[in-house]
Amino acid sequence: MNASDVKATLSFSDGSPSMDLPIYKGSIGPDVIDIRKLYGQTGKFTYDPGFLSTASCQSAITYIDGDKGELLYRGYPIEQLATGCDFLDTCYLLLYGELPNEQQQRDFHKLVNNHTMVNEQMQFFLRGFRRDAHPMAVMTGLVGGLSAFYHDSTDINNPKHREIAAIRLIAKMPTLVAMAYKYSIGQPYIYPKNDLSYAGNFMRMMFATPCEEYVPNDVLVRAMDRIFILHADHEQNASTSTVRLCGSSGTNPFAAIAAGVACLWGPAHGGANEACLNMLEEIQQMGGVEKIGDFIKQVKDKTSSVKLMGFGHRVYKNYDPRAKLMRETCHEVLSALGLENDPLFKLAMALEKIALEDEYFVSRKLYPNVDFYSGIVQRAIGIPVSLFTAIFALARTVGWIAQLNEMIADPEYKIGRPRQLFVGAERRDVPPLSAR
Ligand SMILES: CC(C)(COP(=O)(O)OP(=O)(O)OC[C@H]1O[C@@H](n2cnc3c(N)ncnc32)[C@H](O)[C@@H]1OP(=O)(O)O)[C@@H](O)C(=O)NCCC(=O)NCCS
Repeated sequence: MNASDVKATLSFSDGSPSMDLPIYKGSIGPDVIDIRKLYGQTGKFTYDPGFLSTASCQSAITYIDGDKGELLYRGYPIEQLATGCDFLDTCYLLLYGELPNEQQQRDFHKLVNNHTMVNEQMQFFLRGFRRDAHPMAVMTGLVGGLSAFYHDSTDINNPKHREIAAIRLIAKMPTLVAMAYKYSIGQPYIYPKNDLSYAGNFMRMMFATPCEEYVPNDVLVRAMDRIFILHADHEQNASTSTVRLCGSSGTNPFAAIAAGVACLWGPAHGGANEACLNMLEEIQQMGGVEKIGDFIKQVKDKTSSVKLMGFGHRVYKNYDPRAKLMRETCHEVLSALGLENDPLFKLAMALEKIALEDEYFVSRKLYPNVDFYSGIVQRAIGIPVSLFTAIFALARTVGWIAQLNEMIADPEYKIGRPRQLFVGAERRDVPPLSAR
């Protein structure tokens, strides 16, 4: 780490000795104050629930400037990647640090394609689920279950195992998500077809049937690929930190990624696009555009606990750069499908306009996030709302595994073990039952 000439000094008003704390500089972004020796020297912990001011690791993968609304994967702006590369290029970049040249691109595609099928036993495992199970419940089980199938790539300390597990996960996630979908609607599974693009193959596994071939529509395949690119990584968010924490115990990569899937499920994280579309449908049922005013009133009422889903972000205090790209894709997809007058889309546009002008949202720097548009795009493509988060998980898998592998290869890596401020009862004796 690159040490700064400046040091921080921590002093105490009760006269206890002060302490110098080293500062490290990142290549861009805020410096960090190293507090690792704090407990040893002062007997005190820091307190930072929600990690508002705490860097949990050093990373060279993704950089976000929330105030500027900037997102870089390995230094490249998301806008350039979304328009000039495809998802597998992005995967290569996130995993290996550089974009592939032509040969590397060919080899990587071939490698991923070699792993798209899942063990045939997987379908019997799936059969144990109810048909109406939430796809994220199914995905948590299936991804965790992969470790039972691939014993030859579960040693997290072996770099070769880590690489094989990464490729397997990237290659098999579309197959698993499509299987979860097919199972839920009672249709036969469609096997992967490796001469299609990553996104095209996924869409075929979703929408083809044995009696009817799926003819990929370029605009929709491009939209799906863009959804994958925009969701591929987002530095140390809740699910990525979960994967790192889970993996820090030395567990196998499939188990660590399953933990990420479980975390992503929550409505404040990956479940937001599903929650956003459900919200739009509710407003539509209430009366649509006419009722936006009433809905916004509820959102502003702090006693109501109603939130404008798809708005606000822990890190972006500006327009989410992914939202801009997804908004563009949204227009493209809806016009390709002749859905420009779709009532839910019109409602979303009206809601966005009002929220961007309203003092409540402006003063809190609440802008639409990527989920606000990705739900509309996916719905137009024909993806059921309950599958949105599973598609997010599919795309984020590469980010999770790249971050996990980076952590394991970091010489400073330790098992994650946060501390606490204890505020419970002091030591006391168990009274006999008659005295309780
Ligand atoms: C993403 C999210 C969890 C970030 O939360 P956070 O960084 O902890 O921000 P806070 O909850 O501190 O929000 C700051 C203020 O804005 C308000 N706020 C944040 N998001 C809001 C939303 N979507 N609708 C209405 N008010 C919102 C909070 O009530 C708070 O107001 P206050 O200062 O009057 O108490 C939050 O914005 C949210 O729940 N958004 C909706 C879900 C969503 O779209 N998630 C996707 C993330 S990619």
